[in-house]
Amino acid sequence: MYHQIAVLGAGTMGSGLAQLFARCGMPIMLYDPDRKALDKARAAIARSAELHIREWPNERKAWEQATDKIRMTEDAKEAVQGADFVLEAGPENIGIKRDIYKAIAPFLGDETLVASNTSSLALDTLVQGQPFGDRFVIAHFFNPAHLVPLVEIVKRPDTRKDLTDRLIGVLVQCGKAPVILKKDCPGFIANRLQAAVLREACHLLRSGVADAEQIDRAMREGPGLRWAINGPFEIADFGGLDIWEKVTDNLFPSLDNGLTSPEPIRDNVSNGKLGVKAGSGFYEYGDGLGRETIIEQRDRNFTQLIRLKKELKST
Ligand SMILES: NC(=O)c1ccc[n+]([C@@H]2O[C@H](COP(=O)([O-])OP(=O)(O)OC[C@H]3O[C@@H](n4cnc5c(N)ncnc54)[C@H](O)[C@@H]3O)[C@@H](O)[C@H]2O)c1
Repeated sequence: MYHQIAVLGAGTMGSGLAQLFARCGMPIMLYDPDRKALDKARAAIARSAELHIREWPNERKAWEQATDKIRMTEDAKEAVQGADFVLEAGPENIGIKRDIYKAIAPFLGDETLVASNTSSLALDTLVQGQPFGDRFVIAHFFNPAHLVPLVEIVKRPDTRKDLTDRLIGVLVQCGKAPVILKKDCPGFIANRLQAAVLREACHLLRSGVADAEQIDRAMREGPGLRWAINGPFEIADFGGLDIWEKVTDNLFPSLDNGLTSPEPIRDNVSNGKLGVKAGSGFYEYGDGLGRETIIEQRDRNFTQLIRLKKELKST
């Protein structure tokens, strides 16, 4: 466990990360230069605690203790001083991330591990010129960070093994499933797989094969269920590799191999249909209250599924 964790950036990911580690019993300093972002994070954390307590009343005390463990600050120095783990979740902008590292570097201890939650920036680019190069990793969490178990870890050959091992140990203790990459790769593993599926889903939609509802249903009721239990290689092994050899030979020529964002996504974006946050996207989501309900429902379903999966593992 860590004695003190600093989470830098209190947006969508930062507020989830603070909850995750606080729920696991560690004190958190959540930093953001924007007071409004901290207020929003406080409200999001309270909503999430409420949801869990409503669904699982016996967890009330644990959630109340977790919420008490999160302190908020607009001062980067205050956030990182004394922290043995610093997790940066600032905006996905190399200039801003580098400014954050420059600002905190003088206040970091020699044993402090720094991690970035970047989704797309290269490890070497991020850490270039920083004095903590051998104490830096990418730790890529998924939204909502306090719920989704997967964390992709990218390190350099000279990253200190003791610090990485400690992080992996803490993640496992907090119920996470760390996956360690052999080398840096844009999109890491999971986002590449998700993007490949989204590209083909858009292709099916655009070709008039089915509407969005039917495509989503096919995924939820078929591969989605399987993928919660087995990965693509396991599924291929179960099905028989001779069969999959034929299937891939027959199908690959007709799969989409476009190199830009698919038309259905571009069309929605140019019409201001950005998804849940804008009230519409591939579907309609109604007003603010309707959207909150949808997000809450998603989180509830998700939490139940994750709990069930843990039970399956232990049987
Ligand atoms: N949203 C996702 O689904 C998701 C998933 C995985 C990884 N990520 C990555 O996590 C990071 C954060 O994403 P997000 O979705 O939480 O973004 P966000 O825009 O919701 O939050 C970013 C926060 O950083 C704050 N910020 C601005 N300047 C800062 C500074 N100098 N120091 C510290 N904080 C600063 C902003 O005020 C904001 O609150 C990004 O690198 C993103 O690529 C996002």
